[in-house]
Amino acid sequence: MKRRDFLAKSVAVAALGFAPRTAKSIDDQVEVLIDEPIGIIDPKLHGHFTEHIGGVIYDGIWVGEDSKVPNIGGIRKDLIDSLLKLNVPVVRWPGGCFADSYDWRDGIGPRAQRPCRTNFWVNDPFLQKAPDGPAKYEPNQFGTDEFIRFCKLIGAQPYIAANLRGLTALDFDHWVEYCNAPPGSTTLAKMRAANGNPQAYAVRYWGIGNESWGCGGNFTAEEYATEFRRFVAWVPDYGLKLRYIGSGPSGGDLDWTRGFFGRLTAKGKGELDNLYGWALHYYCGSAGKGQAIDFEVNDWYELLAKADLMESLIKQHWSAMGEVDKEHRVKLVVDEWGAWHQPGTEIDRTFLFGQTSTMRDALVAALTLDTFHRHADKLVMANVAQLINNLHSLFLAHEGRFVVTPNFHVFQAYKAHQGGQSVRLVAAAPPISFRQGNTTATIWGLAGSASLHYKKLVLTLVNPHVKEVRPTQIIVRGASIRSCKVRTLSAPDIRAFNSFDHPNAVEPKDEVASVGQSLVWTIQPASVTCLEMDLV
Ligand code: AHR
Repeated sequence: MKRRDFLAKSVAVAALGFAPRTAKSIDDQVEVLIDEPIGIIDPKLHGHFTEHIGGVIYDGIWVGEDSKVPNIGGIRKDLIDSLLKLNVPVVRWPGGCFADSYDWRDGIGPRAQRPCRTNFWVNDPFLQKAPDGPAKYEPNQFGTDEFIRFCKLIGAQPYIAANLRGLTALDFDHWVEYCNAPPGSTTLAKMRAANGNPQAYAVRYWGIGNESWGCGGNFTAEEYATEFRRFVAWVPDYGLKLRYIGSGPSGGDLDWTRGFFGRLTAKGKGELDNLYGWALHYYCGSAGKGQAIDFEVNDWYELLAKADLMESLIKQHWSAMGEVDKEHRVKLVVDEWGAWHQPGTEIDRTFLFGQTSTMRDALVAALTLDTFHRHADKLVMANVAQLINNLHSLFLAHEGRFVVTPNFHVFQAYKAHQGGQSVRLVAAAPPISFRQGNTTATIWGLAGSASLHYKKLVLTLVNPHVKEVRPTQIIVRGASIRSCKVRTLSAPDIRAFNSFDHPNAVEPKDEVASVGQSLVWTIQPASVTCLEMDLV
């Protein structure tokens, strides 16, 4: 079938809907257009976020050097081992809202002498009846040096969010100096050496505040733009091009984007060169009763459809940025994303936002990463919120116990996309209807992303349908498929999750597809599928 015919059929299929099908018919198609490149998939699109909140840092990442929990320099060894399987590109720290109440000086030097401070999150109602501890009172045992140690152990770039609300531009300069000044050059470089780290850390990515429209200072977009300009003016760079990331909008707040870009460039467009990334935050929330592991089929579709809004947010903000930044010098970053359910599934009483992730969250992760790949020309970084014991986490850990969530398996499969050339794909499958309030809404029947790595093609697909298999013909325009490995993440129950007692309730299955004249693969219901093909 010619490409034009295929596209025409796709449109017709989407418009008319499908008659009920037998499990064996091949109605669905995915066409990969390898001669239609979008952009290189920056590995940083698979980044992570770690805040001093609940059980993320303490008990999650940091167990301490004297802990019985196996650790490397105080950092949980199971976590390091798992992260080494992901090619983690970048980790954001120390917040989140916490960042704008954090003094980096509290977190350096001998640990026994570091001050204890009130954590930003202490007033959250969830913590009111929780016992005192690091979730309420920050012990500063994990600071800049420990964070850099963590990044080095997992091979990731550090991305540090500066305190814009509570500290000065000079404090920010000094933090950069502590991290990046050459060995022996300044008092702060000598202090870093005295703390065991003579070599500069070469921290390249710096966030200028966090959610500056809210917890990060309650600024207007225009006020924040002025502060941004002030903070990044003449920061010593020690020969390293620093990449500043601006605190971008919440969801669809286009006024924040427009107001910021307008005021940022009030003294000229040259200021755009100081802004590497504009950081959108979007949490797709929850659905139905809002519970993490107790939901109905309709809630499943509703949440996936909400996650799918990421695509329109990227397009809208990109277009608003382009009204001022016509050459698109500034790229988008999504440095907080994920599903956010109601409390109730935490594994410890102090783990604020410590929800349990199910297969539903795995599909949210997969379709969101696919969205990022399809916009590889616009995005340079994304950070899922948050790494461990929190919203949309890849891991749960408490004392000596550790388990990977279904989200981990998505990131593990999707790492094959990193650094590839994102190419266009066209998927044709019947859309799915569901209830949204008093109306009927729809979500696509199959979607994904594709990337080319010389002669290797990586194709990831999400089938949101809770019951229907999708026997799918996969067509690669401009090449033939020689072989194909398939990894599928699915589970008998859409509510399935991993726990300490059942760590393998959700795990991927590897298979090899037989490739003849064409490739047909039956995509499982409620699944994430990763196909890695050798092309000739
Ligand atoms: O990820 C939890 C919180 O959500 C972050 O601290 C904040 O930036 C956002 O509102």
